[in-house]
Amino acid sequence: MKRLVNALILLTSLGCKADTWRDPSMVYGFDTIKPSANLTWTPCFDDFTCSRLEVPLDYSNRSFGTTSIAFIKLAGKNATAESPSIVLNPGGPGGSGVDLLLTYRTVTGQMFGEQYNFVSFDPRGVNHSDLSLDCFSGNSKARLAFSRLHSTGATNISTTSLEEQYYSSSIYGEWCNDAVDNESPHEAEAKVAGQSPSDAKLWCYGISYGTVIGSTFASMFPDRVGRMILDGVVNAEQYYNNDWRDNVDQMDEAMKKFSSFCHSAGPEKCSFWGPTPGNITARMDDIIHQLQNHPVPVSGVRSRDLPTMVTYSDLKALFLNTIYTPLEEFPVMADILHQLECGDVSALAGMLDGLNSISDARLAIQCADSYRRNRLTTMEEFKSYVEYSISKSKYIGDIYPIYQENILCISFRPQLPDSMVVQGRYPTFCLSLSCSLSLSVFSKIYLREGK
Ligand SMILES: *[C@@H]1O[C@H](CO)[C@@H](O)[C@H](O)[C@H]1NC(C)=O
Ligand SMILES: *[C@@H]1O[C@H](CO)[C@@H](O)[C@H](O)[C@H]1NC(C)=O
Ligand SMILES: *[C@@H]1O[C@H](CO)[C@@H](O)[C@H](O)[C@H]1NC(C)=O
Ligand SMILES: *[C@@H]1O[C@H](CO)[C@@H](O)[C@H](O)[C@H]1NC(C)=O
Ligand SMILES: *[C@@H]1O[C@H](CO)[C@@H](O)[C@H](O)[C@H]1NC(C)=O
Ligand SMILES: *[C@@H]1O[C@H](CO)[C@@H](O)[C@H](O)[C@H]1NC(C)=O
Repeated sequence: MKRLVNALILLTSLGCKADTWRDPSMVYGFDTIKPSANLTWTPCFDDFTCSRLEVPLDYSNRSFGTTSIAFIKLAGKNATAESPSIVLNPGGPGGSGVDLLLTYRTVTGQMFGEQYNFVSFDPRGVNHSDLSLDCFSGNSKARLAFSRLHSTGATNISTTSLEEQYYSSSIYGEWCNDAVDNESPHEAEAKVAGQSPSDAKLWCYGISYGTVIGSTFASMFPDRVGRMILDGVVNAEQYYNNDWRDNVDQMDEAMKKFSSFCHSAGPEKCSFWGPTPGNITARMDDIIHQLQNHPVPVSGVRSRDLPTMVTYSDLKALFLNTIYTPLEEFPVMADILHQLECGDVSALAGMLDGLNSISDARLAIQCADSYRRNRLTTMEEFKSYVEYSISKSKYIGDIYPIYQENILCISFRPQLPDSMVVQGRYPTFCLSLSCSLSLSVFSKIYLREGK
């Protein structure tokens, strides 16, 4: 009988559109979830549970009130409520862990093992977590005007570009400071649940900026580390000094791989193929020089698009984009280089603009994390950083500084209390805007969930 009922339910459900069978308590966003001081999970996004964790705005002075952090959890196919939770730390800074877990829902269990639970979160200020910052307060004309003044292309594209990029940076900080002063949220005094100490350990997987969070956690709470995978490791000391030099070190090696992979792939699979890897590199270098001396106007007359100009910086932006995800992007780059060689520049139009999409949240975290330790404040320091990048990478070195935008921190004054400033040499004591959040978040997770 039970079997029959099940069969009937199955048949009915097959006959119905999936959404008529939606569990009414299932949510597809965070707006309706009530923040709680413990991790109270609500079913969400079909296969997940979500929570908004209430945390103090300032751990050293709880009278400032609280804010909320968005959490998401996925149970591995073989996991139980008691299974260890692996915390995934998103990159960025400014990356969304919620988005990360939603995007990789099908492969996460395969990668780590189906016997675990997976938890991730949006750091403070990012996407579904509270404290959103818009430095230009919705004034898109002002943002665009700033971008035109500042994002002029590769750092040495003209004899004045370095100076223009440096001096225009202060504009960004001034708008951010003003936005923060005028929007500063005053949240109600909150009762904060006391934390009990625990022997629970953190299991986590951190990628890119997430490795900074991981190593910071390990340096603060070495006996609280269960298992930790740090992947795509960022030099944390440099990160906290806003001086990300090591990042460019191996970029030209990655670019060289393009030539050797394209050559081995053969002319059918690589549209930019040549008889030797050296031939491929030499033709790529020719294209760089041609665009440097001769940017190509695209009038837009026929397509009724806005007029534009394809420049050397657009090509550099292509290189940078490509080596972030080389396995996917090498074939795309081969096609574009092939078109360029045939005189068709259209695929590069707007490439540089597409690169400049760094969010205010990301910059707020990056600038706050290096607050009072910023090694990139004077024109001389900026110049030396740029020269270093160029000396290390012929292909990416002159586009990287303007892409990472560390220079925008020069006049950013986050007004952090001392307890939230990273003090001393790399994190002997770290309670910065982002990592304190993340760390607080960790402590909650491992207290309540960890094994
Ligand atoms: C968590 O908090 C909610 C209300 O904020 C409460 O209903 C629930 O019982 C608490 N759960 C635990 C495990 O403390
Ligand atoms: C905490 O902040 C309040 C203002 O919100 C201030 O009056 C109080 O002195 C602060 N306490 C400490 C310990 O800094
Ligand atoms: C933020 O969340 C929305 C869905 O609400 C999603 O479409 C978007 O991609 C997310 N942004 C980031 C940066 O993850
Ligand atoms: C779940 O665990 C069982 C028993 O250990 C194992 O045979 C099975 O392959 C696991 N399934 C997955 C999807 O890992
Ligand atoms: C690359 O190889 C092609 C085919 O042999 C040749 O025509 C071309 O001149 C070479 N280009 C360079 C820059 O070596
Ligand atoms: C900028 O630097 C790159 C990399 O060293 C170099 O190839 C290029 O010629 C330089 N441009 C100018 C205008 O100096």
